[in-house]
Amino acid sequence: MASSKFQIAVIRGDGIGIDVTDAALAVIEAALEKTSAIRLAYHEISAGAAYYRETGRDIEAGGEDAAGKADAMFLGAIGLPDIRYKDGTEISPHLRLRDIYQLYAGVRPVRAYPNAPQRLADPRAREIDLVILRESTEGLFYSAAVHGRSEVLDNQEVRDVLRITRATTEKLHRFGFELARKRKQRGCSGMLTCVDKANVFKSMAFFRQIYDEIAAEFPDIQTGYNYVDAQALDLIRRPWEFDVLVTENMFGDILSDLAGGLVGGMGMAACAEIGDETGLFQPAHGSAPDIMGQDMANPMAAILSGALMLEYLADKAGEPALQDASQLIENAISLGFAEARIRPLEFGGDMGTAAVTNELLSLI
Ligand SMILES: NC(=O)c1ccc[n+]([C@@H]2O[C@H](COP(=O)([O-])OP(=O)(O)OC[C@H]3O[C@@H](n4cnc5c(N)ncnc54)[C@H](O)[C@@H]3O)[C@@H](O)[C@H]2O)c1
Repeated sequence: MASSKFQIAVIRGDGIGIDVTDAALAVIEAALEKTSAIRLAYHEISAGAAYYRETGRDIEAGGEDAAGKADAMFLGAIGLPDIRYKDGTEISPHLRLRDIYQLYAGVRPVRAYPNAPQRLADPRAREIDLVILRESTEGLFYSAAVHGRSEVLDNQEVRDVLRITRATTEKLHRFGFELARKRKQRGCSGMLTCVDKANVFKSMAFFRQIYDEIAAEFPDIQTGYNYVDAQALDLIRRPWEFDVLVTENMFGDILSDLAGGLVGGMGMAACAEIGDETGLFQPAHGSAPDIMGQDMANPMAAILSGALMLEYLADKAGEPALQDASQLIENAISLGFAEARIRPLEFGGDMGTAAVTNELLSLI
C-alpha cells in the first residue's frame, strides 16, 4: 500500500515557476506510480514577489521553519523585476533558505540530449555530460546571502567579502569526490577538477589546499586543476573531457550558465542545493516574465530537478526504489529527445509546457 513517507515543501513562486512546478510534480508522481509504493506528501508554502506585493512579506509566516522541517524543498522560481525590497534589490527569500539551512553543495548537471540544441560544431559535443558543483553559501556571495553584510563606506566605496571557510570547503570537496565516485560507478570518467584562481588569491589557494587534503581520502578518483579563466575557455574548447568541476560560488554561478548554454538553454538547467540536513531543488532559471502565463516554458529543468530530488531522497533514506523513479525520468527524457517526441518551443519546436509534460507522462 502506498505510504507518504516523505514530506516535500513546495514553493511555486512567480511567473513560469508555477507552471514548471506543476509539470515536475506530475512527472514525479507518474514515475513513483510505476516504480515504488512510496508516495510524497506535498506541503505548499506561499512565497515570492507576487506574494510580497499582496502581503508585504516575501514568505508566509513560519515558512522558513516549515520548509526546513520537510525532507526536501522544491521551488519553481522567485522574483519579478519590478517588485523590489525598499533597498532596491529583488525579492529573494530562497537565498535566505540557502543560508539558514547551509545548502553548500550546488549541483548543476550539464548533459547533451539528442535533438536538443548543440551549440558547438564539434561532433564530440554530443558527449557532453558533466556536473558543476558550485559552493552555494559563501565565496563572493557571502555578502549577498543576507542583507547588510556588504560594507558601504559613506557612499564612496563598497566592499563585498569573498569568504572561504575550512569547514564548508572540506564538506564541499568531500561531496565532490563522492559524486565523482558515484558517477564512475555509472560509467563516467570519475574525475574531479578543482576550478579556482589559486595563482592570485589567498582564499583560492586555501580552497585548493583543502581540495588536496580531501583528495588523499579518494585515491580511486582522478584529480585535476584549472584556473577559472582557462576553464571558461575549456568549456568551449573541450567540455566533453570533464566530469565533475568543483568551484567557488561566483565562479560556479557564471560557469554553470555558460555550460547550460552549450546543451540548450535555461530550460534544461537543473539544480540541487544540498546541505547536511536537507536539500532545495529548483530549475536554475528564473520566473521568465517575458513568457509567463503563455504555456511557453520548457519544463525540463524543473523535471530534471525533480529527478535530482528523488535521487537525493533515495540516498538520504536508503530507498533504492526512489533511485529507480529518478532513473525512469532520466530515461524517458533521453528517449523522448532521441525519438523527437519532445520538441520544446524554447528550441524552435512546436510543444508548450503542457504538451511536453504530457508526452513525458506517456513515455513514463
Ligand atoms: N532561483 C530563482 O528563482 C531565480 C533565478 C534567476 C532569476 N530569477 C528571477 O527571475 C526574474 C527573471 O529573470 P531573468 O529574466 O534574468 O532570467 P530568466 O531565467 O527568468 O529568463 C531568462 C531568459 O530565458 C528564458 N527562459 C528561462 N527559463 C525558461 C524556460 N524554462 N523555458 C523557456 N525559456 C526560458 C526567458 O524567457 C528569458 O528570455 C527576475 O526577477 C530574477 O530575479 C529567479
